[in-house]
Amino acid sequence: MTGLSRRGFLGLLGAAGAGVALAGCGIGSSPGQTGEQLASALPLPDAFRVPLPVPPVARPVGTDPSGADLYRVTQRVADLEILPGVRTPVLGYDGIYPGPTFDTRRGRPVVVLHRNELPVPTVVHLHGGHTPAESDGWPLDLLLPVGNTAIWASHHGMVGDLAAGERSYRYPTDQRAATLWYHDHRMDFTGPSVYRGLAGFHLVRDDVEDALPLPRGERELPLMICDRAFAADGSFAYPGLDQGMRSVPGVEDDWMEGVLGDVVLVNGAPWPVHEVDAARYRLRLLNASNARRYRLLLQVPGAPDLPLVQVGSDNGLLAAPVTHQVLEIAPGERFDVVVDFGALPIGTEVTMVNPLGTGRTTDVMRFRVVRTAKDDSRVPDRLADVEQLVPAPGATRRTFRFTRGPVGDHRGWTINGTSFDPQQSLADIPLGEIEVWRFVTDVHHPVHVHLDGFQVLRRGIAVPGPYDVGWKDTVDIRPAEIVEVAVRFTDHAGRFVFHCHNLEHEDMAMMATIRTVDSAL
Ligand code: C2O
Ligand code: CU
Ligand code: CU
Repeated sequence: MTGLSRRGFLGLLGAAGAGVALAGCGIGSSPGQTGEQLASALPLPDAFRVPLPVPPVARPVGTDPSGADLYRVTQRVADLEILPGVRTPVLGYDGIYPGPTFDTRRGRPVVVLHRNELPVPTVVHLHGGHTPAESDGWPLDLLLPVGNTAIWASHHGMVGDLAAGERSYRYPTDQRAATLWYHDHRMDFTGPSVYRGLAGFHLVRDDVEDALPLPRGERELPLMICDRAFAADGSFAYPGLDQGMRSVPGVEDDWMEGVLGDVVLVNGAPWPVHEVDAARYRLRLLNASNARRYRLLLQVPGAPDLPLVQVGSDNGLLAAPVTHQVLEIAPGERFDVVVDFGALPIGTEVTMVNPLGTGRTTDVMRFRVVRTAKDDSRVPDRLADVEQLVPAPGATRRTFRFTRGPVGDHRGWTINGTSFDPQQSLADIPLGEIEVWRFVTDVHHPVHVHLDGFQVLRRGIAVPGPYDVGWKDTVDIRPAEIVEVAVRFTDHAGRFVFHCHNLEHEDMAMMATIRTVDSAL
C-alpha cells in the first residue's frame, strides 16, 4: 500500500482501527491500484520464455432432451507446471487452468453439467451471460462436493438451492456475440476459488460478427491476464483467513483492499511469449485478476507503440472501432482489440507492458514476429448496430455507494452502507425499463452487474471515458468518482446480484441482491 492510500485508509477507519491497520506492512503497490502485493517465496523465472498456452475448446458430449448442446465439466484438483519445474495444485475446471473455452453460437442453447470433485463447494457463474436466475450462479446455490455433502448443509446458516455432486447450468445463448467468462461465485470464497484456478473463457459468436473481415482462427487469441503469488512449496499463496476455504471469509488485514500477486500470468503461463505472423491479430483481453488493474501498451523497440484497435467491449461489438495507444483494464472487464504486426520486420519483439505495475508486474507478455504471411483481414469502419439506451426524463434513478464499512463486528466493504444480504433486495427493477444508476466510490471499485449489460452515460462531470464505449457489464470506478449508467433488464424475472469485482471486496460483502420483476404482473 502506498503512503497515500495507507493514510486514506486510516483516515476512514478512525483511531479505533489504527492499531490493526498498522500491524504488519506488505510490499507497496503502485498508485492506481487498490490492493496490497504479496511476494512469492520461490525464485521466479525469466520473462518471455514460456510459450503462451491457448486453452482447449470444450467439445459437446451430445444434445440434451431440450435440444441444447450438452457439455460436461469435472471440477477437480490437479498439479500443474505453471512456473517451470514447479508443481502448483490448482482447482481446475476439467483440472486445467484456465478451464476449457466454450465456443458457442447465438441461438444455440447450451447446457453444462458440472461435477464437483473438489474438496469444497462451488458455484458456477457465466460472467456477461444473459442467464435465468436458476443458472446464474446465485452465491448460495452450492454445488456440493461429490460424496461430501453433510458438512456443507448449512453454510453460514443460510441455504440456497443445494446440489449434491452434479448440477446443470442452462445458458439460452440469446445474446450478441461477445467474450464472456465463467468463474466460481461461491458466497464468501470467490476470491480464493478464482485465485486457485476456477476461471475460463466462454465465447458467443453470431452472424453479424462472422460477416466481418476480422482476424480469425489462429489469429484470434483469448488472453486471460491475472496476477498470482507462489508459496515456497509451489502452491498459490493467498492470505485467506481460512486456508481450507470452509467457513471464515476474508483475508488478513493487510490485504483487505485486495490481493495483488508478483507474477503476471497470461492463460496460466508466467510472462509468456507467442510467435506470430506479420499480420493482424484479434486479442480478446480479459482481466481475471482478483484486484489488479492494468494499463496495457504494446512496445516495439525503436518504433512507436502499436495501437490497440478496440472492436468490442464486455458485451460485444462496438458500432465503430476505437483506437487506443494505452488500454486500462480493471478486474472482470474485457476488451476485444485488433493489433497489426504486419508492418514489422521478422524478428521484431513486441512487448505488452503494464506501467501501472511495480517491478516485474510491469511486464505482461511478448509477441515475436516470426514469419511473413498473407493477411486479408481488416477492421471495417462500421462493425455492428449498437442500440443506444436513452433514459426517459422521468426514469427511475438509483444511487449506490461503494465504500468501506462494517460487516457484522468486523471490517469489510459495503454498498449503501449494507453488507451482502441474500434475503433483502436493494432494488426491485421492472423488466424492460431503462433506469439510471449512479455508482459512487471511496477507493477504486470495478462494479459488475449480472443479467444484462449497461451503457455509461457520464463519468464524473464529463462524458464517458475512453474505455467506457459500447455495452459494458463491468465498469471501473476510480477513487471518489461518480459514474452514471443506463441499465435495462430485458427478461428473466428473478433474484440476481451486482457487486464489486475486486474479489476481496466482493467476499467481504460488497455485493447486493436485486430483483427483476415482470412489469406486466
Ligand atoms: Cu464475474 Cu458476479 O461475477
Ligand atoms: Cu457476472
Ligand atoms: Cu471494490
